[in-house]
Amino acid sequence: MRRLSRRDFIRLTGRAGLVAPMAASLSTSPLLAACGSGADPIPPPGNGANGGADSRFPLRLPEAVGAGDLRFVAAPTEWDIGGGLRTPVWALNGEVPSPLIRVRRGERFRAVMENQVPHDLILHWHGLAPPDDMDGHPRFAVPPGGSYHYDFPVEDRAGTYWYHSHTHHHTGEHTYRGIAGLLLVTDDEEDALGLPSGPREIPLILQDRRVDAQGVPFFQPFGPALMAGYMGTQAMGNGVRDPYLEVDTALYRFRILNGSNARIFRLGFSDGTPFHLIGNDGGLLPAPEVLTAVDVAPAERVDLLVDLRGRDVGEQLMLRSLPFSLSGGMGFMGGQNLQGDPLALLELRVARAVDDGASIPTSLPPVALPDPADAVRERTFRFDSRQMNHFINGRNFEMERVDERVPFGETEIWSFVNESGLPHPVHLHATHFRVLSRSGGRGRVFPWEAGRKDTVLLQGFETVRVAVRFTAHRGLYLLHCHNLEHEDLGMMANILVE
Ligand code: C2O
Ligand code: CU
Ligand code: CU
Repeated sequence: MRRLSRRDFIRLTGRAGLVAPMAASLSTSPLLAACGSGADPIPPPGNGANGGADSRFPLRLPEAVGAGDLRFVAAPTEWDIGGGLRTPVWALNGEVPSPLIRVRRGERFRAVMENQVPHDLILHWHGLAPPDDMDGHPRFAVPPGGSYHYDFPVEDRAGTYWYHSHTHHHTGEHTYRGIAGLLLVTDDEEDALGLPSGPREIPLILQDRRVDAQGVPFFQPFGPALMAGYMGTQAMGNGVRDPYLEVDTALYRFRILNGSNARIFRLGFSDGTPFHLIGNDGGLLPAPEVLTAVDVAPAERVDLLVDLRGRDVGEQLMLRSLPFSLSGGMGFMGGQNLQGDPLALLELRVARAVDDGASIPTSLPPVALPDPADAVRERTFRFDSRQMNHFINGRNFEMERVDERVPFGETEIWSFVNESGLPHPVHLHATHFRVLSRSGGRGRVFPWEAGRKDTVLLQGFETVRVAVRFTAHRGLYLLHCHNLEHEDLGMMANILVE
């Protein structure tokens, strides 16, 4: 009965509540907001660590859909983000996050996207390497009422991929409103490892949201948010605020995407529990790594084995974003920059004792990577931010301009140079690259950057060198910053593979 009355209350106030933050945003000067959290209209996040059952909400674990003949209808609707709090969203088939897709390598991916949102829309399959007219380049965005047909074979290695809107100037807004989901590719090589599956394999999209006094997320980027990117203090897991998950005393596989617009997570457990990192953007790593923390920038993925055997029923464990400071000296920039602030993300509640005979692999299958010794060419991409704008090699994105012509099949060394103190998660479509070195800033390559990557974090004034080669298709693809505010403001370049 309590739940009903609460839901009714929200129903009455939820929509009116949406107006409040916009008014607050307009009346709060960015400079005032920058002075400290006192000027910030956002309530403190529920940390849940000591909270009762009421302060956290069950993580949603959606059923996966297969690859054949999918129909995705994108439309505005409402979504319960936990405890009956219904919020306005844009969703595919009414679901937030977008439906979980599971595809077998070699299978044909056939889907139609029907656009019923009031913007142009196109979906991009992040990390896959489809033909260029299937890749969701923003030049293919279809108007409201239109639809787009996807049909291509998935040739990609098993891994944790994802998909989201790629409408130019609106990727941040669309992703934030709900048009983003996970796309898992499986193959024989991965099957052979016998990794935790079924209820022990947890697909997890972590996001932050800026919420009003009722807890309803809103998207109203202005001033500083256009430089730092749009961040909030409300943690979301699979579209649920302050989620918890009941677990067995067993080995778990967490397939995690940072689906935030701008916030970098440093994932770790409250008590320092180590985990086994087995995969990232490009699937399984060359070898597993035991870690207590892993940095995951927007669009990056990590695949973790978490061993809960030996835990006591009733124990709780919080997956958090641990505090960190940015290298490059721009950790604080305007009132909306929460980068590096700690955040409680997902509480694991040990609920059942079981006998789990699962084993942690000690080795992983070899990964084919471009060899820098084969490189025939070098290129440099400079990421620069000034006057509320963002550039690659001094240029802002233009839909039809080709920025680089890259020969198909040739290995090249690319240097991504960050000329500012703002972090940039740099993402390349249509292939994966190998991270070779990082100079400036943190000055090293991290274990989670081994293997194949499609996104790599440049912190302030860092240069990252990668070996890259396009071997899937010729065509027009994108290189861009995956801070979605930066991307939407044009920190994106057209790469013609020919
Ligand atoms: Cu996930 Cu071009 O993006
Ligand atoms: Cu992508
Ligand atoms: Cu950026």
